Amino acid sequence: MITDSPVIGIDFGTSKSSMAWYDPRSSRAEIIRNYEGREITPSVVYFDRDGGEILVGQLAENKLEEQRTEQRGFVLSVKRNLVTAPPKVIGGKVYKPVDVAATILQKLKQDAEKLHFHQFVSRAVITYPASFDIVQQDKIKQAAILAGFSEVELLPEPIAAALAYMNTGYKVGNHILVYDFGGGTFDVAVLTRISDGSFIISLEPKGLNSCGGDDLDRELYFHCEEIALQKLQRSISLTDDIDLRFLRQCRSRKENLSGSETETFSSYLSGPNGPALFEHTIERRTFEGRINKYIDHTVTLTKEVINKAFTSNYKVDTVVLIGGSSRIPLVLRSLSNALPVAPIEWQQRDFAVVLGAAYHAQRIWGPANPKPSFIPGRDQIIPPPPPVKPQPGPIPVPPPPLHSYGPAPDHKVMPPLQVSPNPIPPPPPRYIPPGIQVVQPVTKQKNNAATIVYVVLMIFSLLVAIASLTSETGIVFAILAVVFLVLLIRTSRKRR
Ligand SMILES: Nc1ncnc2c1ncn2[C@@H]1O[C@H](COP(=O)(O)OP(=O)(O)OP(=O)(O)O)[C@@H](O)[C@H]1O
Ligand SMILES: [Mg+2]
Repeated sequence: MITDSPVIGIDFGTSKSSMAWYDPRSSRAEIIRNYEGREITPSVVYFDRDGGEILVGQLAENKLEEQRTEQRGFVLSVKRNLVTAPPKVIGGKVYKPVDVAATILQKLKQDAEKLHFHQFVSRAVITYPASFDIVQQDKIKQAAILAGFSEVELLPEPIAAALAYMNTGYKVGNHILVYDFGGGTFDVAVLTRISDGSFIISLEPKGLNSCGGDDLDRELYFHCEEIALQKLQRSISLTDDIDLRFLRQCRSRKENLSGSETETFSSYLSGPNGPALFEHTIERRTFEGRINKYIDHTVTLTKEVINKAFTSNYKVDTVVLIGGSSRIPLVLRSLSNALPVAPIEWQQRDFAVVLGAAYHAQRIWGPANPKPSFIPGRDQIIPPPPPVKPQPGPIPVPPPPLHSYGPAPDHKVMPPLQVSPNPIPPPPPRYIPPGIQVVQPVTKQKNNAATIVYVVLMIFSLLVAIASLTSETGIVFAILAVVFLVLLIRTSRKRR
């Protein structure tokens, strides 16, 4: 259905999420910044011990940086565990993976409503890895409904990326292969461009659910674990769980290794006898040796898919790399050696999926002839945004988990998820898309008073003018009556 209310595209990613909209003034999809003023929202959620406070995104990520020991309340990479992870029981409340995903989507929705559109956003296109099965897709949809969206369309990530690639103005042949190596999943799909400018998936897409940046971070972590055992005769973590803070350091060292040949760790590990200094320099070559098996796996799958495409008469002419992990130099080297078509690295690879989602949202819900229909024109008044409801209602009693590990949930009814009121920085300056005027109600009141004054003055001037028709005073008051009439007309226009 085509209507005038705003619609957004969301890339719900394993490590980060983002949102975009189609801006009719530029005829392009544009990123919507979040409350913290950033284009990216880490897909991280923190529940405090009593279950009272929930932090989402950057605030949760900051908390993770601060936290030295207690890690129980953090949920990372929920997208790759939507079906399999056990519910988390915190402060007597049960949070299933789908609830955690809902808090992330809810944050994005609320930020878009409060800071960008100034009105309710009820429809979203949300992307999913093409390799997700129907159960996983359904979980994303459930999370979106819990987050407060009333209409949700799911779109495979490679299709979104291809739409963005084409709409950015790049030349696309007839058959495009999208290689998406992200934070949690790897996906490869061959798409065929059809005459109306959209794409269809031509062959069954291939993917690996546990092959992404998260796995590479862990490889680096385990490498450091071996070094810590050798040098310090201790583990990095004091518990059986992985040290999430150190894992974050591995992530940033890994990212740096895409640009530099060596990276150095120098950090204190907490311990019962005081902190121990862990120092280690790793070479890119060593890191590549550890992650080669993952990259090999993606290259083998891609080769299989492209060969199948050629034999099925889908002659792939464009190979596009997206996803943050495709920045690893070994990826491009390996693919260039293995494929018959040279892969294209794309600057926009981090936002390809979300921009494509926004193009798709515009296509299915936007006005047929795209016009800024939900951006009020110069002389229109925007009604104040309706109050944002954090959640449509209590989340129903969760059914028994599909897989039960950990403590048995006590099946309490969860209260509505409340994204914690932001305790940290004051909101960034309110972003109002150009062209939008926010009209304050006080202006309306002032206009009412002015109208009454002008009417009284105009009638008074008119009466005096009639009373002293032939004298100079009569002429002056006649002119004044006309002036007040003009002011009256202008004020009543403003009110409209
Ligand atoms: N320069 C870089 N070198 C290596 N890895 C990088 C680089 N930049 C980002 N990454 C990694 O890319 C991953 C994030 O990629 P992306 O944003 O595409 O994933 P996602 O959308 O969160 O996950 P998914 O699409 O798998 O659900 C992270 O693991 C990040 O560390
Ligand atoms: Mg992604």
